[in-house]
Amino acid sequence: MAGITNPPFRQLCRELGAIFAVTELVSCHAVVYLDKKAGNRKRKHGSKTLALMDKFPGESPFVVQLYGREPEVMAQAAVIVEAQGADIIDLNFGCPARKVVKNGLGCGAALMRDPQTLGEIAAQVVGAVNVPVTAKTRLGYSADDRNGVQIAKILEDSGVSLVTIHARTKDQGHSGPVDLALLREIVDAVNIPVVGNGGIKGPADATEMIAKSGCARVAVGQGAKGNPWIFRELAGGEGAPGLAGRVETCRRHLELYIKWSGEQRAVLEMRKHACWYLRGFNGAAAFRKRLGEAVNADAFSNLLDQLPV
Ligand SMILES: Cc1cc2nc3c(=O)[nH]c(=O)nc-3n(C[C@H](O)[C@H](O)[C@H](O)COP(=O)(O)O)c2cc1C
Repeated sequence: MAGITNPPFRQLCRELGAIFAVTELVSCHAVVYLDKKAGNRKRKHGSKTLALMDKFPGESPFVVQLYGREPEVMAQAAVIVEAQGADIIDLNFGCPARKVVKNGLGCGAALMRDPQTLGEIAAQVVGAVNVPVTAKTRLGYSADDRNGVQIAKILEDSGVSLVTIHARTKDQGHSGPVDLALLREIVDAVNIPVVGNGGIKGPADATEMIAKSGCARVAVGQGAKGNPWIFRELAGGEGAPGLAGRVETCRRHLELYIKWSGEQRAVLEMRKHACWYLRGFNGAAAFRKRLGEAVNADAFSNLLDQLPV
């Protein structure tokens, strides 16, 4: 998830049982442009785009998600990303964000309306790299354009190893009901593993999705915000801890974030994570009101100290 699944958060999710976690989506054009600029495929310090492709220490498998529209550029980007250590390359054909779908770019979910180009992208990327290529897409673009079965078959025929289906249409964005019957049709139509996605907030949702659709696994999006324990819970373990455990994880998250991006950015970004960790607890509202005081790691920590743990 853009703005969320960076290395510190992926690390927490993986430690708590996620089988794999995917980077934020990365523009293929940016990858190719920055690589040419650097000339030597080395990381250009300070580049936001290249930071999207940082691993956390020991991350394996390291899964990088690319988006774009031109098959050749996507293939070039995939080769660069593979050389930088990606173990799996995931292709985004599901993002509904205006700046990705429109703007003349026609990337992300827009490619569901151009199955031929989508298939060419997948085939060229698969042909260009040695690592497995996976893809993420949806049921369709809109309520009257639900071609998810066709898209999944094209992806399979193009050599994609696994497909994640967000069981909503592009027009639904990231909320609203999922359609598990159509997800089932997609699962039944292909021989590659299908990962179901959409609305998983706990074990009951995962059990229902797997039972009704036959999908191989589930992918969790927003249900992991402030709740990386969801992965442990889905694997049969304990769910989220009480306030003290959440505060402890929040401190660790801040520490990992500082190591990755430095104190200033870490503290700013951790404000939203802290609110998610503390949601619903006594003292959360007062904490939120005082978040502006969290200008450095010490001040952030002091605010956490004041919670009624
Ligand atoms: C803020 C935000 C950013 C997202 N960024 C991405 C992304 O970069 N790549 C992607 O494949 N999906 C992205 N998604 C979609 C989620 O991965 C997921 O498919 C969607 O939220 C549905 O699952 P959920 O109901 O479990 O959240 C994003 C969703 C949100 C809310």
